[in-house]
Amino acid sequence: MQRCHSVSIAGVHLPAFGQQPDDFVGVEHVNRIGCGTGRVAEQALRDFPAAEFILADPSKAMRVQTRGRLTNRDSARLTILPPIGNADLEAHVANSTADVITAIQCHHYMQRPERIKALRACREVLKPGGLFVTFKNIAPRTAEGVRFGLAAWKHFLMDNGRTEQETDQQIARYGKELVPITAEEHPDALAQAGFGVVEIFWYSQMQAGFYAIK
Ligand SMILES: C[S@@+](CC[C@H](N)C(=O)[O-])C[C@H]1O[C@@H](n2cnc3c(N)ncnc32)[C@H](O)[C@@H]1O
Repeated sequence: MQRCHSVSIAGVHLPAFGQQPDDFVGVEHVNRIGCGTGRVAEQALRDFPAAEFILADPSKAMRVQTRGRLTNRDSARLTILPPIGNADLEAHVANSTADVITAIQCHHYMQRPERIKALRACREVLKPGGLFVTFKNIAPRTAEGVRFGLAAWKHFLMDNGRTEQETDQQIARYGKELVPITAEEHPDALAQAGFGVVEIFWYSQMQAGFYAIK
């Protein structure tokens, strides 16, 4: 088994896993939920050269992009599941088999009961002691916070080359297609899904990162 002293997901280092040798995370089986275009998986394949990866996303279009991006890349340790949502994970992956599951920006389309179901499915698939890492869009706590947060998001998108029209369309999804919950609600949701250790490890504007251990 490959072992590592620290975990860096999407460029964010999780210091809690680097401090004591006993905190080793055996990274053999990694599941990525809502893998999108496969960009982060491409990096993770390089970062964890001995790990096997299972990628899942409900979108056929995303799956096609992932397959295109990762063609010829370590196919022996890569499985791309048929299009499924997170909550259906257990039907495709055996329980208690994954060392790490990541779900990056893919639960904000779900209402609360569906989120809990999806988080429970992740927990079931993890080995005891396995690590769940997730980054989320976060709902600010107040109407003013939403106004400031969306303005900052708009600036960010336009600074990164989006037109004003594209940006307004993206922002208009907030509260309709994108239904984030507050940073405070996430640990509760993870605990409700059965995780014992639940922590926020990064928070900026309307995004936050959490880890949880089965
Ligand atoms: C903003 S993209 C993030 C993609 C990727 N995780 C990344 O960080 O580059 C959101 C992804 O979540 C996927 N998604 C939507 N609903 C989902 C669900 N119920 N379960 C898992 N993924 C979902 C979408 O198809 C899309 O690929």
